[in-house]
Amino acid sequence: MSAEVLNGREIREEILKDIEDETARIAQEHGRVPGLVTVLVGNKPASRSYITNKVNTAKRVGFKEVQESLPETISEQELLSLIDRYNKDESIDGILVQLPLPEHIDETKVIYALDPDKDVDGFHPVNIGRLVLGGDQVKFTPCTPAGIQEMIKRAGVPTSGAEVVVVGRSNIVGKPIATLMMQKGEGGNATVTTVHTGTKDLAGHCRRADILIVAAGKPGLVQPEWIKPGACVIDVGVNRVGEKISKKTGKTVAILRGDIDYDAISEIAGFITPVPGGVGPMTITMLMRNTLNSLKYRLGLIRPGQQ
Ligand code: GUN
Repeated sequence: MSAEVLNGREIREEILKDIEDETARIAQEHGRVPGLVTVLVGNKPASRSYITNKVNTAKRVGFKEVQESLPETISEQELLSLIDRYNKDESIDGILVQLPLPEHIDETKVIYALDPDKDVDGFHPVNIGRLVLGGDQVKFTPCTPAGIQEMIKRAGVPTSGAEVVVVGRSNIVGKPIATLMMQKGEGGNATVTTVHTGTKDLAGHCRRADILIVAAGKPGLVQPEWIKPGACVIDVGVNRVGEKISKKTGKTVAILRGDIDYDAISEIAGFITPVPGGVGPMTITMLMRNTLNSLKYRLGLIRPGQQ
């Protein structure tokens, strides 16, 4: 059997088209477009590449885009002051600070400094709390988990009563996706197990999964023997395993590998996501959706739980 490939790039195009149309409509009716600030501290190639992608996508859908590119040496206080300025800026609906930050800056302090109503990453404790409460409390769902759930829904994979196993317990992916999949409602209602570095029988748990979501950050960790035939396997890993010269641009680009043994697992699974081109494009798409929703909350067009 060969798994159906869930193509994040195709889904991205469909959703971005809707976001672009809605942005144009709101601009006409309310004289306002969503405003997004992206903050990059330092010059890590992976972070710069993510930010470039976010900036280009925001421009493409017609958002106001403000780019803050700050030196590695910026002090924590300077960064906090910058965030405060954008918290108060009426033309800005979303503030995204690319993580990780340099060692001398306390990431927790920075996340706490964001206005929760502009936290389009969904990382502020208020938004995490809202996500855990579920239903009409939810305002911003973290982007990668939101993208994963959207892919599963669009593939028509049943989630209600399904065994979902999440590999990894990060604040950005593992914890929020486990929360989302267990909530009542469409795309949720699953029985969720989270496994991690302290788990005794990783393979045994994975083998039970109807839906396996892998966000471990370890290239090729998940083996074909761990997969239940027909399972839906979502690979969140984006591991830089080397560099190559791009045939298209002639530039040096990273060679990316996911957390699963893709070729062998695609012969066993029912659905699979590639790396690159799977979950990655969905993350940025959901950031655009959150930013548009932020403006819609502000204009009273939607209420929490309606995103
Ligand atoms: N670093 C890795 N993933 C993310 C993300 O989704 N948002 C931010 N702000 N930083 C990240």
